[in-house]
Amino acid sequence: MSETTAFSATVSAATRDGVLVVTIDNAPVNATSADVRNGLEKALARAESSTDVNGVVITGAGKTFIGGADIKEFGKPAMEPTLPAVIQKIEDLSKPVVAALNGAALGGGLEVALACHYRITSPAAQVGLPEVKLGIVPGAGGTQRLPRLIGIPAALDLITSGRSVKAEEALSLGIVDEIGEGDLVGTAVSIAGKFAGKPLRRTGELTVPVVDPTEIEKASAKIRAKARGQKAPAEAVRLVTSSARPLAEGLTDERATFLMLRDSREAAALRHVFFAEREASKVDGLEGIAPRPVGRIGICGLGLMGSGIAVAALGAGYTVIGLDQTPDVAEKGHERIVGLLERNLASGRLDQAGFDAQKARLSVTALDSDLAFCDLIIEAVFDDLDVKIDLFRRLDRVIRPDAVLATNTSYLNPDEIAAATAHPERVLGLHFFSPAHVMRLVEVVRCARTAPDVLATGLSAAKKLRKLPIVTGVTEGFIGNRIFSAYRREAEFLLEDGALPHEIDAALEEYGFPMGLFAVYDMAGLEIAWARRKRQAASRDPSARYVEIADTLCEAGRMGQKSGRGWYAYPDGKRIIDPEVTIIIEAARAKKGIVPRHFSRDEILKRLLEAMAMEGDALLAQGIAARPGDIDLVMINGYGFPSHKGGPMFARIEPPQSDT
Ligand code: 3HC
Repeated sequence: MSETTAFSATVSAATRDGVLVVTIDNAPVNATSADVRNGLEKALARAESSTDVNGVVITGAGKTFIGGADIKEFGKPAMEPTLPAVIQKIEDLSKPVVAALNGAALGGGLEVALACHYRITSPAAQVGLPEVKLGIVPGAGGTQRLPRLIGIPAALDLITSGRSVKAEEALSLGIVDEIGEGDLVGTAVSIAGKFAGKPLRRTGELTVPVVDPTEIEKASAKIRAKARGQKAPAEAVRLVTSSARPLAEGLTDERATFLMLRDSREAAALRHVFFAEREASKVDGLEGIAPRPVGRIGICGLGLMGSGIAVAALGAGYTVIGLDQTPDVAEKGHERIVGLLERNLASGRLDQAGFDAQKARLSVTALDSDLAFCDLIIEAVFDDLDVKIDLFRRLDRVIRPDAVLATNTSYLNPDEIAAATAHPERVLGLHFFSPAHVMRLVEVVRCARTAPDVLATGLSAAKKLRKLPIVTGVTEGFIGNRIFSAYRREAEFLLEDGALPHEIDAALEEYGFPMGLFAVYDMAGLEIAWARRKRQAASRDPSARYVEIADTLCEAGRMGQKSGRGWYAYPDGKRIIDPEVTIIIEAARAKKGIVPRHFSRDEILKRLLEAMAMEGDALLAQGIAARPGDIDLVMINGYGFPSHKGGPMFARIEPPQSDT
C-alpha cells in the first residue's frame, strides 16, 4: 500500500497493487457533501492521468458506504461539482472502477455504486434508493441506471417504495455482482486489477430489458393510488417507466424533476420528519445515563393491547411472561399471542425458525410471583385507577427492587398510580397504540418522580421493539390524545356551524389522512367515548361550548359501523351518507339558534389544523412536549396525519421560497 493522499478533507486514497483505493470518510454516514464530491472528482482525475494506476476501488470508512446526498445541504445554494457530474465521471473512466460496499449504500450512495463497473458488497450491507421517503426522486441517475441493471418492474418496486434490500436480495436482483467475505477491499482491488485493459460494463450503456407494458401499467396504477396525493412516487413511476430512452435524455429529465421536488413543500415536510425523528431521541437530562438492562418483560393483561405488546417484544428478542387473572384467561391470552405470531408466519414476515423461537420465549401465568425475575413490566389491564393501583401494589411485593414498572394507561394520571406504589421512581408510562405490534408510536410518559435511568430504560426498550418513542409529560391524554381532543372538538364545532360529516371527512382525506375523522369514529365504535363523556359530565365547565350531536347519535343506538349506523349508514357494509344524521345535526343547530353557513374544504382544514397547532402550543408552553417536532411525530405515527404535510406544527409554517 502506498502512502495516503488526501484529495479533500473527507476523501483520501492510497495505491494498492496498482489500484487506487479511494476512501470516503465523512462521519456520521459518509454523505456526499460538497467536500466529498470535490475529493472524489480529484481522485478520479488522478486515476485517469496516472500511468501507474490501473483501476479504482471506492469504499467508505466506518460502517456505512455512503448514506446518500447530504440532506443538510438541500435548500442551500448549489455547490460544484454536482453529484451527477461526479457519477458520470466514474462511469466514463477509462479504467475499471469497483465499488466495495462496506456498509449501507443509500440514495446518492447507491447511485455512486451503480455507475461503478463492478459492485462487491459485505454481507451486512444494505442498498436502496429511499428518496421518495424524503419527497424526492433519485437525482443522480438512480431512476435510469437501476432499470438498466435490474429491469423496470424491480426498479419500480425499489424506487417507489424506498425500501432497502439486504446483500442477498441485492445479489439475486443483480444490483450487486458479488458478496465478499473477509478483506472486502483486498478482493475489490484484485477484481479491478483483473479488469484492467478489458472492456468495461458501463451500466448506462446497458439496454433496459423489454417487459409487457400492461404489467407495468398495472403496477404503476397501484403505486399512484397508494401515494395518497404525494408527488414523488408518481414522478418516480414516470421516470422509471420511460427509462428505455437515451440515457442523457433520461438523466436530464430526472435531474430537473429531482430539483423541482427537492424545493417543494412536500420534501421540506418529509425532511422535517426525518430530522425530527433523530432529534426525538435526544432527551433532556438523559445525557450519559445508561438504561437498565432488559432481557425479560412481563406483560399484565393479555387482551388486544397486551397481546400486541407481547408480539412486539417477542419480535425484538425479549423473553415474555404474560400475566392475567386466572389460568384460563392467561391461556386465552397465550392463544391470542400465538395467533398473531401465526399470522406473521403466514404472511412471510416470520419464518418457521423465527416463529418457533418466539413461541419458545413466551409463557403465561396467573401468579404474580412468576414475574419476580422480570426486568420490565408493562401493564395493559383495564383502564381503571383502582385496578391499576391494586396490580402495581401486588407487583411491588414480588418483583425485584430494580425492575421497571410501566403503565399503558391512555387517560389516567400515571403520577397517581406511581404515588400509590412503594417505589414511584421506577414507574413510567409506556403508551402504546393499537394494534401495538403494528403501530410505531409509543408515548413514553415521564412521571413526576420517574428516575432518569428508568426513563432511559423505557426509551431503549421501546426502540428495541422498533417503535418510535416520544417523551411526554403528564397531562390528560398525553400529547396525542390532547391534540386529538382539540381536533375532535373543532370538528364538532364545525358540524354545528354548518359543515356535514362527509364534507369534513372529504377535506381530511384530500389532505392525506387515510380516513376522515367521522369514518374513523364509526370504525372504532362510539360507545367508549360516550361512556367517558358521561363520566366527565359532572365536572365539565358549564360555560364551555359543548356539542351534543355525538350523544344524540348514541342515544339513538347509532354506535358506529358494528351497529350498521353511526355518523354514516352501512346498509350492506358500505358507508353512505345518512339523511337521518343530517336531520339530527340540523336539529342541534336549531336548538342553539345557529344559522349554518357553507364551509369550503380549505376553510374546514384551516380550522382543524389551527385547533391542533394551538393545542400543540399549549403543550409546549406547559412543558408537556419538548419540541414541535415531537408533536408532529405523535400525530403522524399515532393518528394518521399525513407525513408529507410534516405534522400539525410544521404545517402551519409558511412554505419556504423555492431557490431554483
Ligand atoms: N444527509 C445528512 N445527514 C444525514 C444523512 C444524510 N443523507 N443521513 C443521516 N444523517 C445524519 C442524521 O441526521 C444523524 O445526525 P445527528 O447525529 O446529528 O442526529 C446522523 O446522520 C446519524 O443518522 P442515524 O441516527 O439515522 O444513523 P443510523 O446509523 O441509525 O442510520 C442511515 C444510518 C441508515 C444512513 C440513516 O441515517 C438513513 O437512512 N439516512 C438517510 C438515507 C437517505 O435517505 N438517503 C438519501 C438521501 S437523498 C439523496 O441521496 C438524493 C440523491 O438521489 C441525489
